[in-house]
Amino acid sequence: MQPSWLEINLAALDHNLKLLRGLSPKAQTIAVIKADAYGHGAAALSKRLRLRGVERFAVATSAEALALRGSGLQEPVLQLGSLHPDDAADAAAARVTPTLVTREAAAAFAAALPGGRVQIKVDSGMGRVGVPPAELAPFVEFVEGLGLEVEAVYTHFAVADEDPLYTQKQLEAFLGAAASLPRRYPLHAANSAGVLSGIGADLDFVRLGIALYGLSPDMKSSERLRPILSWKARPTLVKRLAPGHSIGYGRSYITKKEEWIATLPFGYADGFRRSFSNNAYLRWEADYVAVVGRVSMDQTTVRLPRRASLSDVFEVVSADYDERTSLTARARQAGTIHYELATSLGKRLPRRYLEEE
Ligand SMILES: Cc1ncc(COP(=O)(O)O)c(C=O)c1O
Repeated sequence: MQPSWLEINLAALDHNLKLLRGLSPKAQTIAVIKADAYGHGAAALSKRLRLRGVERFAVATSAEALALRGSGLQEPVLQLGSLHPDDAADAAAARVTPTLVTREAAAAFAAALPGGRVQIKVDSGMGRVGVPPAELAPFVEFVEGLGLEVEAVYTHFAVADEDPLYTQKQLEAFLGAAASLPRRYPLHAANSAGVLSGIGADLDFVRLGIALYGLSPDMKSSERLRPILSWKARPTLVKRLAPGHSIGYGRSYITKKEEWIATLPFGYADGFRRSFSNNAYLRWEADYVAVVGRVSMDQTTVRLPRRASLSDVFEVVSADYDERTSLTARARQAGTIHYELATSLGKRLPRRYLEEE
């Protein structure tokens, strides 16, 4: 059994789903499980979400969708991002619903899958992917002229976690564009932050990513959401070192007195940043223990207040909003966001799924 692993609490996932559905009761949920469900494991999470009645999923690439098809996922899968014409055949093979915003991609997809289903994205102010609102109607006409079926039209918010005024303006621009169409298409706009702030949550679908995993989009702690992931490890070596002993590459830490040092079997290859060297804490029983020395590729060393045993469990990431050990705190410490930290959790860390609390 590998001594460093992730635990994913499926009961907490249920809790978050229920909460978010309660905030968007009119909408159908699209669970965003790209990047291996933000590092949590898309196959296992999609299975649980299906059991809880989720009927739609979204990924970023056709390869992600194909892998999920291999794991038994039959439900509709929306491929976010603008389809590239070169990806049309793979998208068709993976049975995804691609997002179209260019005529080239529309033509390529119509050739790869005549009569296929697609969605169209509008750029209402994100400036990344989408057709301009004024061009939506002619674009939909073009796509349908190719024989494709437009399943829904959607947009994406840029600052739903911080600027409700701008987000509301985006929503209005999107609804205005949708009103220019000759008929009513299913519509969606809200991501997690949209649902949590109530903007766009009453359209036909909502696209939920980060909040399903219990993380608050604005990086604040949440009373309502429950983080579903923790990262644990057992030491592979616990030793008492004499004063003046150096620890790790670069000799960046030298013991000041006799000290208990534990070596833990994870490093930056697992997603524990090198910048945490001499600059982070893990949880061990009731204590925080300091990382000492450099974090290396596969090993991290911590200073203990007393001897530990090899069967003790250290928490590298805690499933809460702890100010030192939560994923959110670690992200802040690393100068990034929890989305990035979660998606860079090492593939080699085993994921263990806990069914119950
Ligand atoms: C188009 C689109 N919709 C929805 C989401 C989900 O966002 P969140 O994880 O903030 O809920 C993403 C994530 O990046 C996205 O790109």
